[in-house]
Amino acid sequence: MVKDLKNSFAGKKIFVTGHTGFKGVWLMEFLEYLGAETFGYSLMANSQPNHYSMIGKKYRETIGDICDLENLTTAISSFDPDAIIHLAAQSLVRKSYQDPIETYQSNVMGSLMILKASHAAKNLRSILMITTDKVYENLEIEHSYHENDRLGGYDMYSSSKACCEILVGSYRRSFYPILDFGNKHQVLIATARAGNVIGGGDWNQDRLIPDLILSAVTERSVSIRNPLAIRPWQHVLDCIQGYILLTRKMLESDTSISGAWNFSPAKEGNLNVIEIAEHCKSVWPKIQYHIEKQQGAPHEAGILMLDSSKAVSLLGWQAKYQAEEAVKQTVEWYKNYYQQNTVITAKQIEEYLNQNAV
Ligand SMILES: NC(=O)c1ccc[n+]([C@@H]2O[C@H](COP(=O)([O-])OP(=O)(O)OC[C@H]3O[C@@H](n4cnc5c(N)ncnc54)[C@H](O)[C@@H]3O)[C@@H](O)[C@H]2O)c1
Repeated sequence: MVKDLKNSFAGKKIFVTGHTGFKGVWLMEFLEYLGAETFGYSLMANSQPNHYSMIGKKYRETIGDICDLENLTTAISSFDPDAIIHLAAQSLVRKSYQDPIETYQSNVMGSLMILKASHAAKNLRSILMITTDKVYENLEIEHSYHENDRLGGYDMYSSSKACCEILVGSYRRSFYPILDFGNKHQVLIATARAGNVIGGGDWNQDRLIPDLILSAVTERSVSIRNPLAIRPWQHVLDCIQGYILLTRKMLESDTSISGAWNFSPAKEGNLNVIEIAEHCKSVWPKIQYHIEKQQGAPHEAGILMLDSSKAVSLLGWQAKYQAEEAVKQTVEWYKNYYQQNTVITAKQIEEYLNQNAV
């Protein structure tokens, strides 16, 4: 598996947006481990502390806004990537209630800017647009959403990502039509829908694991909202493995990849918030939490599950870490950081990739 991936990615030029964010740092490190040449484009990391600075590497990058089309086009044309992986977004549901305009600007117009600027790359073959599990019209029932299920999005974050899905379909039909592939153009576009990704190095506000970690560090109990909400918890490396497999197939000009892809754990990974909090506590007993009934809190989904059978059967993708292991890897990452002052990102990537084939 690792050897195959290294063969596919060695020397490939991959342009990553949102490389200063939680998933972005893991993706850059993963790609570099495989021997790819990377270029990051993003706003500066704004959490304190942040994973991007602690990696302590000078990436080839532009710090800028994806809505700045001129700057973005210059970065893309000068790097001339083989593939683009677009992660940059306003990624928080709660923030989308406070700032719906910024959310739509970054997530919808920003995505359009990426697609428009992609024409500046001469050798481009693959564009992967990252959306979310929240793009579906959530009926709040025991149903695992399939890629063909209806799009929706209750809150402004979710709907901005559903808009991005519609935008990608429309852009593909208008400017990179599959019928003209290999003739008038060589670019395939896919979208990836994953959710509730956990892993070390996330200091975003209002996310469960970072909040729980903070309770251990500050020795203060944190309040937990929506204790019974069920989500498809997934380790960041499983999610990134999905992005890598999709990109590889697009680089190989496999036209069947063009479209949408779900990535989520098997049904056993669909745990509620309390179950995840308890798994965290078993790895780091200093974690403390209490449940607070919040009056008038913004709506968040009660149940959300995805069906990833398409990725399993057509990409050979499979989550390597079930929920318990995903939590263990995550909490261990933070324990190493806070107790040993060590960043174990590279070690976790190496262990992940060198485990038995998925
Ligand atoms: N973390 C999750 O659980 C999760 C779940 C589903 C989907 N996603 C999606 O995955 C992607 C990455 O998520 P994350 O958790 O790493 O988010 P994050 O908030 O940690 O990182 C977002 C990145 O985007 C950059 N960014 C934001 N607005 C920008 C703009 N206008 N111009 C340039 N850069 C901008 C930020 O600087 C940062 O590097 C996002 O598209 C997010 O919506 C994340």
